[in-house]
Amino acid sequence: MKIYAVKIVENINKYFFNKMINFIDGNKKNRIIKMVHEDDKNRLLLAEALLRLIVCRKLDLRNDQIRLKQTKFGKPYLDLDSELHFNISHSGDWVVCAIDRQSVGVDVQEIIDIEYKEIAQNYFTEEEYLFIMNESLTNQLKKFYWIWTLKESYIKADGKGLSIPLKSFSFHISNPNDIKMLTSNRLKECYFKLFNIAPNYVMSACNLNNHFPNQITYLNQHDLINDFMKLCSQK
Ligand SMILES: CC(C)(COP(=O)(O)OP(=O)(O)OC[C@H]1O[C@@H](n2cnc3c(N)ncnc32)[C@H](O)[C@@H]1OP(=O)(O)O)[C@@H](O)C(=O)NCCC(=O)NCCS
Repeated sequence: MKIYAVKIVENINKYFFNKMINFIDGNKKNRIIKMVHEDDKNRLLLAEALLRLIVCRKLDLRNDQIRLKQTKFGKPYLDLDSELHFNISHSGDWVVCAIDRQSVGVDVQEIIDIEYKEIAQNYFTEEEYLFIMNESLTNQLKKFYWIWTLKESYIKADGKGLSIPLKSFSFHISNPNDIKMLTSNRLKECYFKLFNIAPNYVMSACNLNNHFPNQITYLNQHDLINDFMKLCSQK
């Protein structure tokens, strides 16, 4: 497994935005164009560029040789015979992409002061709720986001998204390096890791082989844009 991350430092300038958007699939392009907020447009376009760059480099393909399709649950996959699995996530100033040889899920979240008690009570298991509430007040929000991103990474690795009831699996975290998950769901044999991506952000990954990178591979936003444009000009 490998995880790539890009910190968004500024909105893509109009010239590059209009060029880049023509090198992605029609549905995604329309989705991005219809977005109201500039920040959302940027996040989605950068995530797509990152994914395409990584996939093309890994499989030695040109950008116009890859097509991304979606399962009925919305999980994107490559429309070609390959062992490359991937998952993307974006939040706040970060865009991340995880790749592996088997199913993989990744989730990054900016820590925002939300009504975590109510959400945890309604959507997390009793054990998860107590895990959060037994923490000191200053740590509760962070622990809430641990569970949140772990849950997201699981439902994204499985691919069924929120059609999996969030209480149908439960995390037991003895320490950040010892994360266990109990479930009667189809996907049981999977592994989890929490990553420190940046202050005020939490990121979790889920895979089927327990091979996690020690480090995240960081890419600079401007390098990503340049490399993506170079990739797209290949004939
Ligand atoms: C769509 C969902 C899979 C992830 O949503 P999210 O955490 O808001 O968004 P992320 O940025 O982490 O991931 C989005 C990416 O996941 C991928 N994705 C979408 N559906 C997916 C699925 N069923 N399985 C795996 N990946 C999926 C797409 O690549 C998507 O990227 P795009 O929006 O640029 O097309 C789903 O879990 C969801 O809607 N979550 C909403 C948040 C929530 O209520 N979470 C409760 C957790 S406690």
